[in-house]
Amino acid sequence: MTSEKNKIQPKTAELRAEIAVLDTELAEDFKAQFSVAPFLSRKIVSFQGNKDKPAYSWYKYKEAFSAELVEYFLGSYDGEISGKVLDPFAGIGTTLFAASSQGIPADGIELLPIGQEIIRARLLSERELTSNDLATLERWITSVPWKECPERVSFSTIRITENAYPPETVVAIEQYRGAFQQENEEIQAILRLALLCILESISYTRKDGQYLRWDARSGKQRPGTKAFNKGEILGFDAAITAKLKEILSDVRNAEVPATLFPVKHITKDIRLFEGSCLEVLPTLETAAYGAVMTSPPYCNRYDYTRTYALELAMLELTQAEVSSLRQEMLSCTVENREKDLLKICPQWAPFTEAANQQKLLGAINTYLQYEKTSGTLNNNGIPRMVRGYFSEMACVIGECARVLKPNARLFMVNDNVRYAGVSISVDTILSDIAQSLGFEVEKILVMPGKKGNSSQQMGAYGRVPLRKCVYVWRKK
Ligand SMILES: C[S@@+](CC[C@H](N)C(=O)[O-])C[C@H]1O[C@@H](n2cnc3c(N)ncnc32)[C@H](O)[C@@H]1O
Repeated sequence: MTSEKNKIQPKTAELRAEIAVLDTELAEDFKAQFSVAPFLSRKIVSFQGNKDKPAYSWYKYKEAFSAELVEYFLGSYDGEISGKVLDPFAGIGTTLFAASSQGIPADGIELLPIGQEIIRARLLSERELTSNDLATLERWITSVPWKECPERVSFSTIRITENAYPPETVVAIEQYRGAFQQENEEIQAILRLALLCILESISYTRKDGQYLRWDARSGKQRPGTKAFNKGEILGFDAAITAKLKEILSDVRNAEVPATLFPVKHITKDIRLFEGSCLEVLPTLETAAYGAVMTSPPYCNRYDYTRTYALELAMLELTQAEVSSLRQEMLSCTVENREKDLLKICPQWAPFTEAANQQKLLGAINTYLQYEKTSGTLNNNGIPRMVRGYFSEMACVIGECARVLKPNARLFMVNDNVRYAGVSISVDTILSDIAQSLGFEVEKILVMPGKKGNSSQQMGAYGRVPLRKCVYVWRKK
């Protein structure tokens, strides 16, 4: 029985019905492009696929996709990709390294300092470590020099990282940081990388999408929440030596024997732009790229600046820097304020207009705004986040169309989302916007789901609950 409180108001029902009609129409428009792709397993579209892959597995970036996914798409269109690949949301550089290993040069843009640091350290490990450096790392593993180090170098915390580690772990981290000051820059970078890779495992926290979850042992549990136990909290020495061993072994195995001397597998032609893609994309040359392979943040309220707070604090970001970073990120949290896109780039008026003109999105925006004024949303920042997400994505898509060569493809991994009882078909909305900005939508490949997402269903309805897809668009 529907209680009085849960009764749907007539206006709400009317707006939802309008969204349903527009959603079905748009799915119908893309009926020929939709297909369920059995090879798109959860493993291949997520970090899971990198778990045992040398170097890719060093830092567990939950938001990453697998190198195999990149290899699959770049491989499938092998003869047709001419020139560099671009990833405007590079993360820890999966696209860059996977493309480069296939001999394709790659440029990436990444805003989050932890992603930048991982990419830089990995490049350094592949390009610059000498055999002396490797011997030094070996020594760090066997003789644990931080244990005797009298000099401790403290690290900063921000509000949400206070008391994140057991006291003895704090001492060990500080000694480790003290000891690595003695080493050259390359060694320091690798030692810092190893430290960043283990922070979650030695802390009281667990990354949980929208926020950091706190183990009850921290004494920092949120009031009214059930006691959470993350399982084993690793001791510093064991965790860091295991990580250093893994890194050293991967670096050594990457050396390919040549006739006389060992020659390193050099990662060629990877370029990283550190900053927001909204700022960097307009500076890139027109028609310069042979493909874009990317996965933007999803419109799912996940806050990278909170999830990766331990790492950001260890990288010396202040509270104010983290807050301003949160605003610079692509809008996907309820805290994101509206960005003045035309101030960033006055030429973007047609791009923002493409988002404004998209009918289904318009109906969703109206609905969310109505629900906000009716006081039924669980967070009033949701309408602004959704509007911002699609306007910013329209600018990214417009820029990608500009920097791609004619006929070049863009591959995008993204998820649909649901707010206030309404599914938002991110896949068809973005594809429609892309179509109006110079792309042909070739395919919308749907990850098979558990709930009977058969090809027949796709054919009949063109939609399934919260699809996870890879879009394949070709620049006209
Ligand atoms: C889904 S993740 C991509 C992960 C990547 N495919 C990988 O395998 O590592 C999205 C990335 O976009 C980054 N990001 C968010 N806003 C950005 C912006 N305005 N400019 C550049 N990168 C941004 C996030 O920091 C995050 O690393």
